[in-house]
Amino acid sequence: MLARRNRVGMTARVAASAAVDRWRSRRVPEFAEPVSMVAAGRHVAPAEYQRWLAPLGQNNGRHRKVWEWCFILQALEARNLLRSGARAIGFGVGTEPLVAALAARGVAVLATDQAPEQAGGWGTTGQHATAVDSLRRPDLCDDRLFSDLVSFRPIDMRSLPDDLGGFDIVWSSCCFEHLGSPELGFDFVMASMNAARPGGVVVHTTELDCGSGWNRVLETGSVAGGDYACFYRRSDLRRLVRRLRAAGHTVHCNYKVGRRHPLERQVDEKPYTHDPHLRLRVEDRVVTSFGLTVVKGSATPT
Ligand SMILES: C[S@@+](CC[C@H](N)C(=O)[O-])C[C@H]1O[C@@H](n2cnc3c(N)ncnc32)[C@H](O)[C@@H]1O
Repeated sequence: MLARRNRVGMTARVAASAAVDRWRSRRVPEFAEPVSMVAAGRHVAPAEYQRWLAPLGQNNGRHRKVWEWCFILQALEARNLLRSGARAIGFGVGTEPLVAALAARGVAVLATDQAPEQAGGWGTTGQHATAVDSLRRPDLCDDRLFSDLVSFRPIDMRSLPDDLGGFDIVWSSCCFEHLGSPELGFDFVMASMNAARPGGVVVHTTELDCGSGWNRVLETGSVAGGDYACFYRRSDLRRLVRRLRAAGHTVHCNYKVGRRHPLERQVDEKPYTHDPHLRLRVEDRVVTSFGLTVVKGSATPT
């Protein structure tokens, strides 16, 4: 039976979820709340955040990239997925410590990144993975455990192979904004849902323009140069979330951008100091991170 749609084409279920998001977004969430959220200054000091720094080998929690990795671990732990026997796939892993941090907890990881000949600037700036060995972190995960649990495969996020499926965990950090256009990033997120089992958890982080959204989407660099990035506005992310919900997946969002905390008022300007770096300037915009958590639906969308 066809579901009834409102004026903008949303089903009642999707419209109701959007209304809850608007209500939730009146205030900045706590870091440990199980919702998709914007990186915020108040997240950094509490123990719920600080406890992830050592497993990730980090000492500067006031950085948006570190926030993204902590967000991913938090989202997985909240759903009891940081455990032996869980299976994960990570896209565009670069040299991120999440691969080792997950393996250290017994999670079997298929780490992926684009093929070396395609990597351009990501390869020359040391942000690209080519093999399992480039992801080893003996300080974070015992080498033998790492060898048993981690494998590597080159995968282009713009055309995912059909044989990916059944993973408990699907993740990417700071990647889908680099695929060549805002829509290509969203197409990847939708396609990545196929890699999860029903009930599996998909966590992606990306870069967010903190502005009001009246400006066009900021895009910088080029795919050929290996340094393309787009900076999503909250209205763009709402559109992605509508797509995910319409496809039958579960997402809870808080889009509130904190502006009062000292770490939110201190905007890192070029040349970046990287501490603090929770808010940074890119051209005329202030930018931060957004963490998106999706639970794959098992039912046919209504
Ligand atoms: C900013 S780096 C992030 C690396 C890592 N995830 C992290 O958090 O440090 C972007 C990553 O996206 C990867 N990437 C860019 N375009 C890609 C594509 N089409 N397919 C797969 N990976 C891609 C790059 O190779 C690089 O590893």
